[in-house]
Amino acid sequence: MNRTAQASGRIPAQPGPREARIAESARQERGVGVQDVSDVVTESQEPGAVIPGAGPSSRPGERATVRLRETGPEEPPRYAPEWLELREPADADARAHDLLDPLRIRLANLPGKAGLVIHDLGCGTGSMGRWLAPRLDGAQHWILHDRDPYLLHFAAVASPRSAADGSRVTVETRRGDVARLTPDALLGASLVTASALLDVLTREEIETLAAACTGAGCPALLTLSVAGRVELTPSHPMDAEIAEAFNAHQRRDGLLGPDSVTVACEAFSERGATVRLHPSAWRLGPAESQLTAQWLRGWVGAAVEQRPDLAARAERYLQDRLAACEAGDLNVVVHHSDLLALSRPTGSAA
Ligand SMILES: C[S@@+](CC[C@H](N)C(=O)[O-])C[C@H]1O[C@@H](n2cnc3c(N)ncnc32)[C@H](O)[C@@H]1O
Repeated sequence: MNRTAQASGRIPAQPGPREARIAESARQERGVGVQDVSDVVTESQEPGAVIPGAGPSSRPGERATVRLRETGPEEPPRYAPEWLELREPADADARAHDLLDPLRIRLANLPGKAGLVIHDLGCGTGSMGRWLAPRLDGAQHWILHDRDPYLLHFAAVASPRSAADGSRVTVETRRGDVARLTPDALLGASLVTASALLDVLTREEIETLAAACTGAGCPALLTLSVAGRVELTPSHPMDAEIAEAFNAHQRRDGLLGPDSVTVACEAFSERGATVRLHPSAWRLGPAESQLTAQWLRGWVGAAVEQRPDLAARAERYLQDRLAACEAGDLNVVVHHSDLLALSRPTGSAA
């Protein structure tokens, strides 16, 4: 699917039948490219229910907020738009502004004046574009990639409209597997971005991505990859055990989890790119308690999926942590890294 959209709108916090109808009519009015969203099943929300897709796993027996049609064993995990919406402000606060100036300098030196072409890989509901487009000058065309047509739909509807200098921003969506990207697919690209993607890829997939970017001479801004370190204040004797089990869960089935940034640095550097890293931690206090609570459920749930022997103690730990969170007595730092890889230009970039 490659359709151009000029659209803006809000992501429904909890898409239900009404929102789906509104989104559908907005789509028809705007000609936004949306693929099949008929596989979405909604259920009523219970307070405190975990959001499936909010973390690497949901816990058995928990009621869905929005349940996506059952995925088979071969199907990849799907992310809930509510979760992506909930984390968007913390992501925006965490993103490394220090990487923007070197990026702007590179983009300003590109040959041609036709405007920027930016590929956002694993775009989800499009939070990267909403953050970055208004921070870059000049006309921009964003190509939003994801394998989930439901998320692409939200990304197109809520896409940014104008650049820092008021220039036009347009968007198209592409459904597909970003792990198979080739340099050809990036022909004419000015920039590749991704956010919260690297840690769910394998070594081979990151190498493919680095080869595509460096082969096309295209810079890459790859943000918010988990670093595998969290700090909870006040501390609890089980923090380290849960963190270790969670990190092991992230590394399951060849996924890189907290090793992804190191692997990406190596993959880009070996291919001649200059790589810069910057920390981009979430800093969650009482004002972010809703996000913290969802993050805790996903974090502890994944740890228990990895180590079922922790279940009983982890449940008590989770209840303690949720109570502290609700009382405004918990602060959490979730460490991430942002990476800017400046490939050697090949002359093929826009
Ligand atoms: C954690 S979400 C992040 C979404 C968004 N970038 C953000 O920061 O809010 C990861 C996204 O990557 C997509 N994704 C993961 N692996 C992918 C793949 N191999 N090909 C295409 N999309 C993928 C998922 O569907 C999901 O939308």
